[in-house]
Amino acid sequence: AGSGKFFVGGNWKCNGTKDSISKLITELNSSTLESDVDVVVAPPFVYIDQVKNSLTDRIEIAAQNSWTGKGGAFTGEISVEQLKDIGCKWVVLGHSERRHIIGENDQFIGKKAAYALSEGLGVIACIGELLEEREAGKTFDVCFQQLKAYAVPSWDKIVIAYEPVWAIGTGKVATPEQAQEVHVAIRDWLSKNVSAEVASKTRIIYGGSVNGGNCAELAKQEDIDGFLVGGASLKGPEFATIINSVT
Ligand code: G3P
Repeated sequence: AGSGKFFVGGNWKCNGTKDSISKLITELNSSTLESDVDVVVAPPFVYIDQVKNSLTDRIEIAAQNSWTGKGGAFTGEISVEQLKDIGCKWVVLGHSERRHIIGENDQFIGKKAAYALSEGLGVIACIGELLEEREAGKTFDVCFQQLKAYAVPSWDKIVIAYEPVWAIGTGKVATPEQAQEVHVAIRDWLSKNVSAEVASKTRIIYGGSVNGGNCAELAKQEDIDGFLVGGASLKGPEFATIINSVT
């Protein structure tokens, strides 16, 4: 860990029921968490209110998606204004599942990010390469291309989540060296394309099969400033271990 306050997000994805979420909230509320870490969870939209009403204020809430502009006749979408109204402080955008399963492209994601930021939400901006892109030596190109699409007026409220697609939900975590290598490249890109100040201040977090057993080694890397956790964030005690891996 190096830049800024350690940041750990739990992306619950499309998982949970009222009961399982209530159990998870009880576990999180009773966990002892290091104070020097920003902690955020992203429940499915329909459970955000339940989480907001029962989860400790120590943990902030993110949405897993948001619309590109003001609400209105956009069936099935959720606006940034509605997310703020219900108590969200963050939104996860550009997740690989939305890119590769739902088909969202860079331009669409960039538009959502710009709008969310203009309305004061923090953005957890995800990027990451597919296995075939890594094998073809295109990891940096893909990540830079995706980063460029987040060309936003201010980088103050952005956390970049590097999530190699081949590591997501596969149990195949990137090695600390693999993750560190890309995080450094992202920081260099920020330095060259935005500013040295943004490069040094922006938190770059890693996601992809992070768990209670591998988080400590990853957290030791200079340019890993936190984690975006999927599966392991559904287990309160394990998520707490990951949060407390801050070094
Ligand atoms: O956004 C977090 C994520 O995609 C990683 O998922 O289950 O591999 O930790 P998982």
